[in-house]
This record gives sequence, C-alpha cells and structure tokens, in this order.
Amino acid sequence: MDSQVIQAVKQRLNIADVVRRYVALRSVSGRWVGLCPFHQEKTPSFSVNESEGFYYCFGCQASGDVLDFYMKVNGLEFRDAVEQLATETGVEIKAYKHDPQADERQKVKKACLDMHTLAQEYFRRNLGLAGGDAARAYLRKRGSSQEIIQLFGLGQSPDDWHGLANHLKSKGYTPEQGAVAGLLSKNEKGNIYDRFRGRLIFPIQNLSGQVIAFGGRIITEGEPKYLNSSDTPIYKKGEHLYGLYQARQAMTRSKRAILTEGYMDVLTLHQFGYADSCGVLGTALTQEQVKRLSGFCSRIDLIFDGDGAGRKAALRSAEMILHQGIACRVVLMPDGEDVDSLLQAKGRDGLEECFDIASDGLAYSLNTVRTQFAPREVVAWAQGFLSHLSDPALRSYYLPRLADGLGLSEGDLRRYGGQGKAGERQGAGQMSGQALGQASGQYSSQASGQAGNKAAQGAILPVGRDDQNDKAFLTFPVLYPEYVAHLQKKGFGELLLTDWANAFWRKFVEAGGHDVLSRLDDAEKVFYAKTRTTAHRLEGEELAREWEHICSCIGEVLVRKERERLKEAIRMAEKNGDNDSLIAHMASLKALNAPKREE
Ligand code: UTP
Ligand code: MN
Repeated sequence: MDSQVIQAVKQRLNIADVVRRYVALRSVSGRWVGLCPFHQEKTPSFSVNESEGFYYCFGCQASGDVLDFYMKVNGLEFRDAVEQLATETGVEIKAYKHDPQADERQKVKKACLDMHTLAQEYFRRNLGLAGGDAARAYLRKRGSSQEIIQLFGLGQSPDDWHGLANHLKSKGYTPEQGAVAGLLSKNEKGNIYDRFRGRLIFPIQNLSGQVIAFGGRIITEGEPKYLNSSDTPIYKKGEHLYGLYQARQAMTRSKRAILTEGYMDVLTLHQFGYADSCGVLGTALTQEQVKRLSGFCSRIDLIFDGDGAGRKAALRSAEMILHQGIACRVVLMPDGEDVDSLLQAKGRDGLEECFDIASDGLAYSLNTVRTQFAPREVVAWAQGFLSHLSDPALRSYYLPRLADGLGLSEGDLRRYGGQGKAGERQGAGQMSGQALGQASGQYSSQASGQAGNKAAQGAILPVGRDDQNDKAFLTFPVLYPEYVAHLQKKGFGELLLTDWANAFWRKFVEAGGHDVLSRLDDAEKVFYAKTRTTAHRLEGEELAREWEHICSCIGEVLVRKERERLKEAIRMAEKNGDNDSLIAHMASLKALNAPKREE
C-alpha cells in the first residue's frame, strides 16, 4: 500500500470523529475519554489524543492511530481499512507502480457510491409522495414507527420501468453505469430498466454510513418476496450486515450483537429497544461477517426459527462464531413466529422469555452433535472444529470442553484432532499490548514468560530491569521529540541496553519527528501511546535538570565504554609485547580516570 495514500487518508480524518462513530466521547481536561470498545468496562479508560492522532486505553493497553482503530473495531485487514477510508475521504488509491487499471477500478467504485446516494434520495422522496401511499400503508400495517423509518432510511421504488434510470440520466450517469452499480438490470435484448420496481426499499449501508446496496420487499403479492442487490464493485454478498451501521455504538456498549435473518426483524428489534441488532442479509452467516462483528462485541445472540432448518442453521452459525473465539447463544423462536411477529404480538416480555431459555452456543452445538450425529460424524465434527482454530490458546480452551461434551477422551482428540492452523499465526495478536510494552512492575515477569514464544518468531523481547531502564530513558524523547536530534548527536543510543529499545530509538530517529506512530509495531505503539498519555510532563527548571541528567548518563556510559576499550587494548598490547602502544593506552586510561577538574 502506497504510503502517500496512507498519509493522505490520515490527514483527512480526525481520529476523534472516527472514534465517535463507535464510542461516545466526553472531554476531560483537554482529552477525549470514553468506554473502551476493545474490552468490557463500566468506567471509561479509553482516551483519544485528537491533536496527535492516537488512542490509548488504560485498561487494556489498546493503542494506535486512526487506521489501527478503524481496522480493529471493524475486524478488517489493513489494506481493506485503508481502501474503505480512502474511498470515504476521496483519496485516490494509486497502486504501487502507477496502475491505470487500479485507477479505473477506483473511479468505477466512486461512481457506484455516488449513484447509490442518488438512488437512496430518489427512493426516500418517493416514499413521501402520492405514489408511496401503498408503501406507507404497508409500513403502518406492520407497525413500523416514523423514527425507525427515518433511522434506516426506508424508501419506495415506484412501479415504473425507467424511473430511476431517468433520474440517474438527469444526473449524468448512463444506463450502462447504472447497470454496473446494480441499480438497473439488462435483459437479453440489451434493454436496461429499473431493477427495483414497486417495492419497499431497505438501504444497506457500510460502516461509514454510505449506501452500497438495497433490499426491496414486494408490497402487494409477487415474487420474489425480497429482491436484493447482486454483487457489484462496491458490494459483495456475505461481507456486510444489515443494520450494523445503526447498531455499532450500542454493540460497543453492550458488547453483544443480536443477529437475525430478516430486514423487518432488524427494524422491529431496534424499534423495541434492542439497538444492538443486525441481520445477515439473505445468506448463511459468513466468516467475514463474524469477523466484522467481533470488532464490536464479545457475544453474539443468534435468533433462529425453532424448526429443523432453523436449528441446523443455528449449529452452523454457532460453530463459525466459536471458531473465532467469540461466545454465542442460540435463541430459538416459538413455532410459526419470527422475532418481528413475536415482538409485535407480545412485546419485549415475549422475546425476553426466549432469551431466558436460550442455550449457550457451545453447549448447544455439543448437545446437537452428541444426540443427533452418528459416532463417526461426532469424531469428524470435533476434528473439523479443532482444525478451524487458528489460535493455540483457543485450542487448549476447547479441547477439554469438546472431549467432555462429546464423550471423547481428551488425549485421543488431541492426537487425532488435526494440527489446526496453530503454526501459521502464533497468537501474535494477543501478545502485543498485554505482554509487551507495559512499563509497569508486572512487566518483567510476564515478558520472560513469553520470551521463548516470541523469540521463535524472530522478534526480540525485552526482559526485566534493562528494559525498565531503557523505557525510563526513552520516555524523554517520546515526550519531547524536539530533543531527538540533540540526543542522537550526543549518543543517546549508547544508553539503551535491550534490542527492543534500540530498534524503537532507531525508528524514532528515522522518523525525524514526523508521524512516528505509523512506523511502530503494536508493542511499540503501546509504549508510545501510554507514555504520551500518562507520563508526567516536565517544564522549565525541571525539564532542564532532566536533560542534564540524561546527558550526564550518556557521558558516563561513553566513559565506561572507552575505559573498557582501553583495557582491552592494553591486554592485547601486553600479549603482543607492543610496548609503545601499551604506554600510550595506559596514559589514555589514566587521563580518563583522573577526576575531572571543575570548570
Ligand atoms: P423470510 O421469508 O423469513 O421473510 O426471509 P421475513 O424476513 O419474515 O419477511 P417479512 O416479515 O415477510 O417481510 C428472511 C430473510 O431472507 C431474505 C431476506 O433478507 C428476508 O428478510 N430473503 C427472503 C430474500 O433475500 N429473498 C426472499 O425472496 C426471501
Ligand atoms: Mn417476518
């Protein structure tokens, strides 16, 4: 990814604004604080440094810049995070070596987004016009409130083959472009016409709130009941969740997601106060969707029909969620009801009854497998389950529970249970921020516990007192970057004993005070953000004394090193019988050891 693009995206985003999409922030003595979206807490320990563009959590040490935040909270890869934010902020992504195809793709995406915005306005407007009578009546019949209709931006597509096509044309888009965006359809004869006709329109939004697709429900009778956008340059089925944009803040508060199947189910859940609800959009739950949800919550409550098909789907979904180390519950609906009809008929009490008797997702899965699978299917299921786990810690967690729940021996499961994906991604994510980069007292013991593990990955881990000393020294340049060049000239690096600190210092010097954060790895970011957020800042006299202190420490180290060098040279000269150099080195050593005269 081009670093210019990354810089441009960062410059156009205010970290506090982006964080505020997910977390309510309030100002406390000049910084923003809120409830951390990355761990469960009741008192806010998440702080955002708006002017310097980073966040830091006192509770879980989560830290980083706006890209880190967006990536983690949405469960995205770095590349995808940059791409989404680039599209949002209008930064053109030029591929590595100028790639005209990539430019073209980016242009098409931008046009698709713009056409969706236009279509959304068009559909909304139509819901309010005379032609929207039937749709409005239908919404009334289904009990949808005005607030919910607004919140989800519902609309209506007129029963017209060219209404939207003409509207787009009037805004400068060709029918072909509309077809690429999935808003218009093309028949075999090549005629292009409106895809959504005579339907109640549900806009599908991405996490930036942009409309990227639509679902449309037939208002009278007809087939299909729901028509969805097909895949387009800006929308891929199975990657998005309906209502996640509206639900994300509530989810980060409750740490829970309610997941249901239908458009109306999501609307009605929100209307009845379940603001942490979203929907899977007409496909089976996918890994991408789970990953996305995992950035917001630690538990997913799955709502499914109580019938056979619903139970089967519940097992598949629960498994997928458990694989990623997230908890889930399976909430089954009474016969013939879905969550929408249940809430409309019995209100929250009706649904709460279902929550009360919901099963834990793991228990549900194990129970289903044990009672309904043939023995060899049971074993195969357990092996398959374990082989999906990428995290060795998670494997250790599940092994005894699977064995116990399925009546298998743990030893056998361990032996025959496949190797998992353990080797590929040795828990690197969990280590950073927990074991690494804590300057506190518990630091050294934790660090040495993980040392072998991390060393195997080729990274260098700081241990014990040396590390604490290094961090104490590094606090100075981190707090006062204007001194970095001076410190460098004086030989600050000589003070640092651990490889970790030296690597950190080198990056600091290379950055030359510009956007250090983007050069740092996770552990370094924790140290940087923690220091800048929590360390006491010195001024005036105190600062001058600290500067002197560091300079004298550097001086001492330089002297000590020179002394050792001379001693070694003396030893060599003695060994070689080189008298001249012996005398010269002894003189130098004597001069070095002589007490310095006061100036
Ligand atoms: P259902 O058939 O259970 O409908 O489909 P529903 O959600 O209860 O719809 P209402 O209450 O009659 O309005 C569940 C979900 O499956 C997808 C939609 O996302 C729907 O909400 N679906 C269903 C389609 O994509 N296409 C269809 O033709 C039907
Ligand atoms: Mn329904």
